[in-house]
Amino acid sequence: MDNYVRIFDTTLRDGEQSPGATMTSAEKLEVARALARLGVDVIEAGFPAASPDDLAAVRRIAVEIGHPGRAEGMPARPPIICGLARANKSDIDKAWEAVKHAARSRIHTFLATSEIHMRYKLKMDREQVIERVLDMVSYARSLCPDVEFSPEDAGRSDPEFLYLVLGEAIKAGATTLNIPDTVGYTTPDEFGALIAGILAHTSGIDNCIVSVHCHDDLGLATANTLAGIRAGARQAEVTINGIGERAGNTSLEEVVMALHTRRPAFNLTTGVDTTQIMRASKLVSNYTGILVQPNKAIVGANAFAHEAGIHQDGMLKHQQTYEIMRPETVGVTQSRLVLGKHSGRHAFKTRLTEMGYVLSEAELDKAFGRFKDLADKKKIITDADLEALVTDEFYQPREVYALDGLQVACGTVGMPTATVRLRGPDGRLHVHAAVGTGPVDAAYKAIDHIAKAPNSLQEFAVRAVTEGIDALGEVTVRIQALDGQSSLAAQREVDQPRTFGGHGTDTDIIVASVKAYLAAVNKMLVATGKYGDSERPAEVGVAARQS
Ligand code: KIV
Ligand code: ZN
Repeated sequence: MDNYVRIFDTTLRDGEQSPGATMTSAEKLEVARALARLGVDVIEAGFPAASPDDLAAVRRIAVEIGHPGRAEGMPARPPIICGLARANKSDIDKAWEAVKHAARSRIHTFLATSEIHMRYKLKMDREQVIERVLDMVSYARSLCPDVEFSPEDAGRSDPEFLYLVLGEAIKAGATTLNIPDTVGYTTPDEFGALIAGILAHTSGIDNCIVSVHCHDDLGLATANTLAGIRAGARQAEVTINGIGERAGNTSLEEVVMALHTRRPAFNLTTGVDTTQIMRASKLVSNYTGILVQPNKAIVGANAFAHEAGIHQDGMLKHQQTYEIMRPETVGVTQSRLVLGKHSGRHAFKTRLTEMGYVLSEAELDKAFGRFKDLADKKKIITDADLEALVTDEFYQPREVYALDGLQVACGTVGMPTATVRLRGPDGRLHVHAAVGTGPVDAAYKAIDHIAKAPNSLQEFAVRAVTEGIDALGEVTVRIQALDGQSSLAAQREVDQPRTFGGHGTDTDIIVASVKAYLAAVNKMLVATGKYGDSERPAEVGVAARQS
């Protein structure tokens, strides 16, 4: 058995299935690019049968990310681009249509094997399930040389039946067999034993890669994944920040860093460049509007913070007293004074390059202008500020409406009022004033009046990027479309309403709130398809770490 664990990232499929994680096609492309730089082996780019937009987004990733050296900073060997399909010809055709443009493509098809799923969801008996698996894996294999099969709800399936189904899938041409704990039900010893049993009792398994795919309903996804790997699985299906259905999927950063940090215990490697982890985490959080909890392992804001005096004292004496990983290993840049009001363009560019951002001259001009504005308001500019500034400037969805001016009146006397001026898709300026329960509510009402994009606000969160009264404020919002926009969820086979995230940064939190809301509204408008293609020119404003 080899000692290489393939990292199969499903942020863009299972992750995007989590409530509120809808990303535009352009955002998916940026995430795919970040995943390729991270060095994942497989990108599950989506579920092409969900909608024509989903198919187009997967195709675009196959074309742009699935080829070697198409863009700066991309790995010489591109990741495999994979599309999910239910076990029927129409889904498989759509998945193939989307992924076939990549240099290396994979079709991933699935069918449930647990008694409860077969009886109530599929209304099929065991023989029918076996026959369908045989037919559909053969069909997928007739199109694509790389086929993955998943017996959905394997964690609650009869192992003897699983051995049979998997053996048939292998006969039909499956090259990877993925074992999902779809509802996050198993415990690590059970899941490890399941994988060991599959490896021992499935005929033909020696020529296949066994994969694990765990959900976090009991908080055991990472533990189960590691147990499966210990038992012999050599592919782990994961998402950035652990986003995914319900409580989420196994998180990429936890599995990769467990294997990396405990190398002597596992004696296994991955192809992931760990220094890219933090940036990918932030990108996914900004695009989905799903915040990372502060105490989240590896990528949480507190993951490397030491508050207790006794810990700080230990750290000063020897870093490894309380730190098992160096923050730099996962790409956490220490908050430190880097630049000030008098720093020039050259120093600014040098620091950004050191942080891994490669900007064109025009982008640099824009970013430098913002840096100067910020330096006027804030004495100390840290790496975290620079990171927020670049993210805010360049990682934003296409602007259907752009903020041109904002004025608010609020306080204990009078009615909170906001006047908003937006430049619209027609190039004209639109001004509206509204009254609300507070300045943010008033501004959002004014935007709603201009943009006419009915939605309900699902989440609104403010946090400070750094410490201090002059800190940049970072706002994340999530809105749900009220005009019936929905997309098909693969496993539930039902349409779910679409939710859009937005993100904004400014020293003024009302401005940051407006930027975040407008970003979400723009995403929603782009998704209606009424404003043309959501494309941004490739590589514009994309951060590329120089290696
Ligand atoms: O959780 C699950 O069962 C899945 C399959 C489609 C692999 O996501
Ligand atoms: Zn899943």
